[in-house]
Amino acid sequence: MQRRALITGVTGQDGSYLAEVLIAKGYEVHGLRRRSSTFGTERIEHLIFGDEPQLHLHYGDLADGNGLMRLLREVEPHEVYNLAAQSHVRVSFDQPTYTADVTAVGTLRLLEAIRDVQDDTGRQIRFYQASSSEMFGKVVETPQKETTPFYPRSPYGVAKVYSHWITVNYRESYDLHASCGILFNHESPRRGETFVTRKITRAATRIKLGLQDKLYLGNLDAKRDWGFAGDYVEAMWLMLQQETPDDYVVATNELYSVRDFCEKTFGHLGLNYEDHVEIDPRYYRPAEVDLLLGDSIKAYTQLGWKPRTSFDALVAMMVDHDLDLAQREQVLKTTVSAYSKAA
Ligand code: NAP
Ligand code: GDD
Repeated sequence: MQRRALITGVTGQDGSYLAEVLIAKGYEVHGLRRRSSTFGTERIEHLIFGDEPQLHLHYGDLADGNGLMRLLREVEPHEVYNLAAQSHVRVSFDQPTYTADVTAVGTLRLLEAIRDVQDDTGRQIRFYQASSSEMFGKVVETPQKETTPFYPRSPYGVAKVYSHWITVNYRESYDLHASCGILFNHESPRRGETFVTRKITRAATRIKLGLQDKLYLGNLDAKRDWGFAGDYVEAMWLMLQQETPDDYVVATNELYSVRDFCEKTFGHLGLNYEDHVEIDPRYYRPAEVDLLLGDSIKAYTQLGWKPRTSFDALVAMMVDHDLDLAQREQVLKTTVSAYSKAA
């Protein structure tokens, strides 16, 4: 029988990669999308257009529990992947209540809907929760593993701790097959442009082509364990294929600073980052997470998962993609300028 999956956050970076992976595995894939005044489906366009769309989209919102319940009854998924969130750490300081409502209570709404539908139908729904290394915040040990205590440093981190523990609680209280992936930072050419890696690769490639002069950043000394999103969504799927639900750290076990990322990116383009990067205190955070480094030995031994993409390959992939975007922008600019001179 064909398995059905529902992905919340399908329009985001991870949602788009996960949808591709599940479709390739033969799933019927459904995705929750928010209503917006623009399409917002750039990352999944290749899956939703054409004679036979491979991905089925439904309007919904983690703020709307009744809608989630209705959707679960309609789709009857075997697996639900909860990737939706207000996922930007800096923004969570500006919108703490909204972040709590969506990123924390939104998970509870979805779990409640799953519990009700499962009780009514007697069919098991497996659940994946997108937990985050941001929960470790001001880390109490390094590297961080599943047993490391949480010390969140942002409204986003606090909301993710709530989501994590409520998922564990529903697993223990109601026997739900619910697992949490504690994923460390993962990036790709589809990464949102306000996260630091993509901000750097977009700006560096535009600087290379003379489309921009400077790149303004905050704390260059923050250190992260950066992997490739395409590798990490495989781990999500593997968690839901286990007989027993559990929680897993997913990371590369390698540490680089924001400065290292700049150096590598600009270096790839034959540039020196020190000539172009300037510090703007507006990008500092009220409370910073200085260092995140994961130990994913449990995912390796129990799921057979390990990252396939090196740091250098990740940077090169993002730079090459963004150089192509910048080149197109340059061509467009030249064409428009020629046209307006001729007109
Ligand atoms: P992302 O690109 O920011 O995508 C977030 C998704 O959530 C988008 O599809 C967004 O829809 C949707 N969303 C936001 N608010 C919503 C709401 N109220 N109702 C329904 N959908 C809503 O994030 P990502 O990088 O793919 O990350 C996926 C998940 O993993 C997130 O929960 C994130 O917090 C978590 N995580 C990410 C990382 C990482 O390094 N990427 C690491 C650990 C955990 P729109 O497109 O309409 O905005
Ligand atoms: N965004 C951003 N913009 N970050 C900057 C900048 C800047 O201009 N300058 C320095 N940084 C530093 C931040 O202070 C932070 O220490 C680091 O770069 C990484 O920032 P982000 O790329 O915004 O990611 P994040 O680590 O805060 O959060 C991401 O990873 C989490 C997992 O640890 C997000 O994807 C979260 O959703 C995810 O849970």
